[in-house]
Parts: sequence; structure tokens; C-alpha cells
Amino acid sequence: MPREAYVNGRYVPHAQAAVHIEDRGYQFADGVYEVVTIHRGTLIDEEPHLNRLERSLDELRIAMPMSRPALKLVARELIRRNAVSNGIVYLQVTRGVAPRDHKFPGHARPALVMTTRQMKPHSTKLLEDGAKVIAVPDIRWARCDIKSVSLLPNVLAKQAASEAEAYEAWQVDADGFVTEGSSTNAWIVTGEGTVVTRAVGQEILNGITRISLLKLIESHGYTLEERAFSLEEAKAAKEAFITSSTSFVLAVTQIDDTPVGNGHPGILTGKLRRHYFDFMDRAGDPI
Ligand code: PDD
Repeated sequence: MPREAYVNGRYVPHAQAAVHIEDRGYQFADGVYEVVTIHRGTLIDEEPHLNRLERSLDELRIAMPMSRPALKLVARELIRRNAVSNGIVYLQVTRGVAPRDHKFPGHARPALVMTTRQMKPHSTKLLEDGAKVIAVPDIRWARCDIKSVSLLPNVLAKQAASEAEAYEAWQVDADGFVTEGSSTNAWIVTGEGTVVTRAVGQEILNGITRISLLKLIESHGYTLEERAFSLEEAKAAKEAFITSSTSFVLAVTQIDDTPVGNGHPGILTGKLRRHYFDFMDRAGDPI
């Protein structure tokens, strides 16, 4: 059974799935996207992802390509056709196809592409050793709260991480504070056991995993602070970790050349990862 993609109203073989050369996503990165986890065949946090999609589209004045129920239907049909049990749905909406001109086109219809991908669980080595991250300057624009497909700084950051044999790059603002990873949110645990992550604003993406983990942290009674932390504070922290729809909750054990804590995945991080997996196992239940 060949893998299929959904492109502007049709299910097509993935290998032949294509958009027009004048799609504004291709020419201007004029579009937004979402990555939704599929866990045991179920979409995790589908509503919050669709809320964020609508918000990103609103901010850019792009219309929803179809109704929410229709989007959900397409996602389910694609998961069914591709028989995905664990993986992701990738959903991209651009302003559509129009002759190249920076200003919004008069009549373009938003273009929708959806794909799925089966993913393997994280390797035992990554889980046992934890992830290494490197620090890079945050050179992105001032609206990182919009999940735009304009990801060049993130691409360069992740490539720098890869070349340093690291899993992720933490972006650092002009004042020395960590904003977020190239495709993850950044967290630390202080010596006193307080979980710290940056408060939302236009400098970071409000991760859906972040939002669910915040609720889990609260419901389990851990101490939490939503505030900026510096790279220096992170290097001296007891534990560190990242969150995203593909990393879930993943321990960070090294930042640049500095081991975090004792250099092994932190105990609290391990508990939070388990809480998050329990939450995914119960998919759909409120936290
Ligand atoms: N990235 N910050 C950035 C810059 C991201 O790109 C992402 C997600 C996150 C975490 O968001 P969430 O918890 O909703 O996945 C934070 C996706 C996975 C990606 O680009 O592949």
C-alpha cells in the first residue's frame, strides 16, 4: 500500500504529491503549519493544535482552508490510509497560489497539505544518556508565537547542533536568556526543585506539549515558575529538558561542554516524562 498525502482536496501517492511553483509558501514562506502526535492511533491534543493553527492563520490574515470538522476528517482518513500507529500528522496551510507579488493576492484560495509519518520510539541510548544541546544566538523575527513555515534560523540552528553532535540548539536572546530550542521548548529544574520555563510572549512558540505539561505539573503539585532563565542559570541547573510533539519530555544532560547536574537524566524529568506518557495513554481524557 503506497503512502498517501492530502494535497488541496485530493489523496495522492506521497511520492507524486506536489504543489504549484507559485504557491506562496514556496516563494515567500507565506504559511503556517502544525505537527500533531499520533499515539497508538490517536491524535494527541488535537483541539489545542487546531486552536493554535487558527490563531496563526488569524495573525497572518489567511482563512481556514476548510472547517474544523473537515480538517479532523481528513487527518483521520490519512491516518487510516497510511495505517499510522505512532507518529505525526503534518499540516500546512499557505496563502495559496498567485503570480509572485509580495502583497496579498486578491483571489488566492488557501492551500492545504497534510502528510503523516510513522515514527520509531526514541532510542534507548538517547533516553539513557539524555540529549546534548548547544547554545546559539536567537536570530529570528519578533513574532515567534506564530507557527510560520519561515524556519530558516531554526534550520541553521538545528544544523549547527547536528554538526556539534548535539540533539538540539537552544536559542539565546540579546540579554543572555534562553528563548527556546529550534523545534522544542526549553525547561530547567532549579536546585530547590522548581520547574522553570519561559513565560509565553512573542519570543517563543506556545508549545502544545508545554501547555499540557504545565497542567500536569500543577495537578501533581510540583513547584513551577514561568519566567526567563539565562544560559548561565541553565548550565548550573539541577536538571534540564525539552518538550515538543516529537520529543515529548526529553532530558537534557549537557549544554555546550557543561554537564547538567550529574550529567544523567534528572529524576524529576523522568517523572514528568512518565506523567506525559500516561497522559498520552489516556488520550482524550482531561488532565
Ligand atoms: N516544533 N518551539 C518551536 C520553535 C517549535 O517549532 C516547536 C514544535 C515547539 C514545541 O511545540 P509543540 O509542543 O506544540 O510541538 C516549540 C515541531 C514539532 C516541528 O517544527 O517539527
